[in-house]
Amino acid sequence: MHEQGCVLALIPSYTCLPEDGVVALKPANVTYEGAAAVPFGGTTALHFFRKGNIQNGQKVLIYGASGALGTSAIQLAKYYGTEVTGVCSTTNVEMVKFLGADKVIENGTYLTVEGQGIAKVSSKDLVFLKELMETGKIKSVIDRRYPLEQIPEAHRYVEKGHKKRKCRHHRGTC
Ligand SMILES: NC(=O)c1ccc[n+]([C@@H]2O[C@H](COP(=O)([O-])OP(=O)(O)OC[C@H]3O[C@@H](n4cnc5c(N)ncnc54)[C@H](OP(=O)(O)O)[C@@H]3O)[C@@H](O)[C@H]2O)c1
Repeated sequence: MHEQGCVLALIPSYTCLPEDGVVALKPANVTYEGAAAVPFGGTTALHFFRKGNIQNGQKVLIYGASGALGTSAIQLAKYYGTEVTGVCSTTNVEMVKFLGADKVIENGTYLTVEGQGIAKVSSKDLVFLKELMETGKIKSVIDRRYPLEQIPEAHRYVEKGHKKRKCRHHRGTC
C-alpha cells in the first residue's frame, strides 16, 4: 500500500484466495515451511524457462544461482535435462553444487558492452595496443579476406553477427 510516500507491508499467517485462484495442495512429503519456500522461485523459473524454450541437452547458465529463483531454476533445469552452470558467491558454492549444478562459477565482474555508449578512442590506447602486439601479448585474428569487388558479400557475412574478430578487404577492414 502506498500512502504519502510510505510503503506498508503485511506478512499474514493466512490468506484468502478465490476458488479459481492459483492454488495447489501441499506436497504430502514436505512441511508447510518447505512447501512455502518453492512457489515464488519455482513458478517464476518455469515461466522464464518456457519463454526461453529451455530443452533437454541445452547448456544453461544461471546467474544468481543461490537466490529464490536460482535455487529453483537449478533443480528445474536439471529436471529438464540441461547442463547447468551456476554463478553465486563463494559461501554458496557448495549449496549450488548440492542442488545439482554441474559447474559453479564464483561471482566475478560481469562486463558488457551492450548499452554502454560508443567507446572513446585515443592515440595513447593505440600505442598501448601497438606495444602489446610487439611483445606478442595481443594477436590479430583475421577470419576471411575479400577483394574489393566482393564487398557486398563481406557485408552480408559480417551482418550475420558471427564473424571472428575481423574480415579484411584490400583497402581496410569491415
Ligand atoms: N520478472 C519477474 O517476474 C521476477 C520475479 C522474481 C524475481 N525477479 C528478479 O530476479 C532476480 C533474483 O530474484 P530472487 O528472488 O532470486 O533474489 P534473491 O533471492 O535475493 O537472490 C539474489 C541472487 O543474486 C545474487 N547476487 C546478489 N548480489 C550479486 C552480485 N553483486 N553479483 C552477482 N550475483 C549477485 C545472489 O547470489 P550470492 O548471494 O551467492 O552472491 C543470489 O543468488 C532479482 O533481480 C529479481 O528482481 C524477477
